[in-house]
Amino acid sequence: FHVDMDANETDKGTYPFYMLKEIDEQPNVMRRLAQVYLSETGEPVISDKLLNSMKQADRIYIVGAGTSYHAGLVGKRLFESLTQTPTEVHVSSEFAYEQPILSKKPFFIFLSQSGETADSREVLVNVNAGGHESLTITNVQNSTLSREATYTLLLHAGPEIAVASTKAYTAQIALEAILAKALGEADNQIVAQRFDVRHQLGLVATGIQAIVDEKNKIEELAKSTFLDTPNAFYIGRGIDQNVSLEAALKLKEISYVQAEGFASGELKHGTIALIEKGTPVIGIITQEKTAGLTRSNLQETMARGAHILTIVSENLAKPGDDIVLPDVDELMTPLLSVVPTQLIAYYTSLNKGLDVDKPRNLAKSVTVE
Ligand code: AGP
Repeated sequence: FHVDMDANETDKGTYPFYMLKEIDEQPNVMRRLAQVYLSETGEPVISDKLLNSMKQADRIYIVGAGTSYHAGLVGKRLFESLTQTPTEVHVSSEFAYEQPILSKKPFFIFLSQSGETADSREVLVNVNAGGHESLTITNVQNSTLSREATYTLLLHAGPEIAVASTKAYTAQIALEAILAKALGEADNQIVAQRFDVRHQLGLVATGIQAIVDEKNKIEELAKSTFLDTPNAFYIGRGIDQNVSLEAALKLKEISYVQAEGFASGELKHGTIALIEKGTPVIGIITQEKTAGLTRSNLQETMARGAHILTIVSENLAKPGDDIVLPDVDELMTPLLSVVPTQLIAYYTSLNKGLDVDKPRNLAKSVTVE
């Protein structure tokens, strides 16, 4: 299969920073993944060997660091919903030295944009020593994690140059969705058969485009809310909580705002003490069964002076919501809800005059443990 790459993939062109270019590339990355990994009729094109190995597993272990770990948290939801296989997600630096008790037939998935993260490699060395099979999902062909794992799937996201990971996160989730669909179907799971991943990726691509087309609005919001705040909270439940962690990481790493991603229901068990007049609290609301609960949790913070904002799926939106996301399957919402949070972090960093692409103290790939 031949994938056309833009001749100037590593050129910023008219963009002031790579991060904005990479945010904007996400609709195309979604389409490219559909092109590479799905047939014309929408069936996943994944090797039988890989699927057979995965089918034998009684448990999937997803391992990653930072943003890749966060993509793994969403992957757990996808694999458990579409394949019924229990799935654990681990931070690689923890797993490497405190290995949990493994199931009888574990299968490992390593998520790594660079394929070079030392913490994740340390786990892979142990996994190989234990004789277990593994898959690396990476953006870099022939990277260390790719070479050393049993199988590799490439993200085809094009080079990601900004230190803050954006398109790799959405590519990882999209590819996990395709893989979960393939595995679920190979196992005759009805939920997987009904999950039209091709249609969903189409909706996601146009949905991301609609959000990035409204970047001016998000820039205004970033200016009015995040420019002068020392701290902020993203809250949500379930898959929205998973995204809140990624949203907070972006704000921390490039905008230097102390941000926390939080399970909305957990706030009242202590952390709500930090809410003061004007503290930004952003609710991510994309799941029907918990939408009302997160809204009440937002109200609780507002009653204590918080400046609340909402990022909401269209079917759950109410008048006054700040950012409304086009509707997609509830499992795919992270691919949309994360985008405004990437833009919030970008514009906050930009308007503070910081070096968006090269935040202090950080390197693109972390090759020390
Ligand atoms: C994300 O914005 C970070 N810069 C960082 O957390 C990154 O995701 C992490 O270091 C893992 O990198 P990898 O995906 O290349 O393994």
